[in-house]
Amino acid sequence: MKKGNLVILNAQEVVTCSGFKGKSGSEMQNLGVVTHASVIVEDGIITKITKDPVDGSAFEKKGFKVIDASGKCVLPGFVDSHTHLIFGGYREDEYNNRLNGMDYMEIMNRGGGIINSVRGTQESSKETLLEVGIKRLNSMAGFGVTTVEGKSGYGLDLETEVKQLEVMKELNKMHSLDIVTTFLGPHARPIAYKDNPDAFIDFMIEDVLPVVDENGLAEFADIFCEKNVFSIEQSKRFLLEAKKRGFKLKIHADEIVQLGGAELAAELGAYSADHLLQASDAGIDAMRAAGVVATLLPCTAFSLKEPYARARFMIDQGLVVALATDFNPGSCFTESIPLLIALATNQMGMTIEETITALTINGAAALDRADQIGSIDVGKKADLTVHEFPSYKFLPYHIGVSTVEKVIKNGVLILD
Ligand code: NIG
Ligand code: FE
Repeated sequence: MKKGNLVILNAQEVVTCSGFKGKSGSEMQNLGVVTHASVIVEDGIITKITKDPVDGSAFEKKGFKVIDASGKCVLPGFVDSHTHLIFGGYREDEYNNRLNGMDYMEIMNRGGGIINSVRGTQESSKETLLEVGIKRLNSMAGFGVTTVEGKSGYGLDLETEVKQLEVMKELNKMHSLDIVTTFLGPHARPIAYKDNPDAFIDFMIEDVLPVVDENGLAEFADIFCEKNVFSIEQSKRFLLEAKKRGFKLKIHADEIVQLGGAELAAELGAYSADHLLQASDAGIDAMRAAGVVATLLPCTAFSLKEPYARARFMIDQGLVVALATDFNPGSCFTESIPLLIALATNQMGMTIEETITALTINGAAALDRADQIGSIDVGKKADLTVHEFPSYKFLPYHIGVSTVEKVIKNGVLILD
């Protein structure tokens, strides 16, 4: 990937989100804002954040790209740490049925839902998936996202799971955004295993996980732990095997029914537990003690018309809370960061400071990358966004509208 030399001159606010690990509880409020500051980037890495005057033309002569950010604010690129961005086909009818009162799990139990997208993904060629992948990544970049996680899970067979992961690997090389891949083989019960989920877990452990592992196709492993999908025992069995092989763990936990996924994430030392709409007090406390990131997905709760996760309570309990879109074709067909910010701040009781922390350094922590991205610190990758307004306080205020003007990835201006 290209790495650039670049200077951002005289920003009204440089919102550093400074730190090299996830921020918990009240630390999330501290954005480390430096006013009237410039940022210097060399070879894709941040080398200086300074309030001293910087001679832009001298840098220009040395071949640096110079961006005048007077009257604007600069933030780290957003880290969307939970998406299902590669899938074939769409489920617009299901969404409209849900708007008219049908239930997400009812659709799934009747053979629709995830299985519908599995069919679409099995039938899509690699080329088609690459094509839609690029379009989706471009859209995400437009919202200021510079690193995105992507899960498999619309294959449920060896060939298609591998195809999805290979497409993401390929996109990671082709596109300027960084993609972190997660193997989510146990995402639903395929029709052939409808009444025998244990046998499907065996298949995943014996036939698919080894191939994903040996070919280095994913860094994380994940499972949909949910009533009528995979139980706590099945989830534990799969995740333990994945951990033995060196995968880092994530878990779709306590989304619709409280099963104890939060507790399981803590027990297994997962990097994150995601959704958590129904997580118990004990599960939240266990996650805090084990340092598991709570990744909340408000756009999904909105789309499903479910109650939001207890963000305020989790932060007050001292958790590391991240926010992500959960972009997928079923429960949440949106990659919109402005919508996410609106929901977090207006509906979940999070401050904008906490929201920005959750979308930057804490998203990076959920992906085990808080030492490399997620903040404007010397030594980190220069993944930056320039916003049209002088303060980060405009982000929730301009409701549902992106404030992003420029996006910089590894010191290269990728969106102007
Ligand atoms: O994170 N909850 C499970 N998986 C996805 C939904 C996938 C789908 O409906 O296609 C989620 O919400
Ligand atoms: Fe998800």
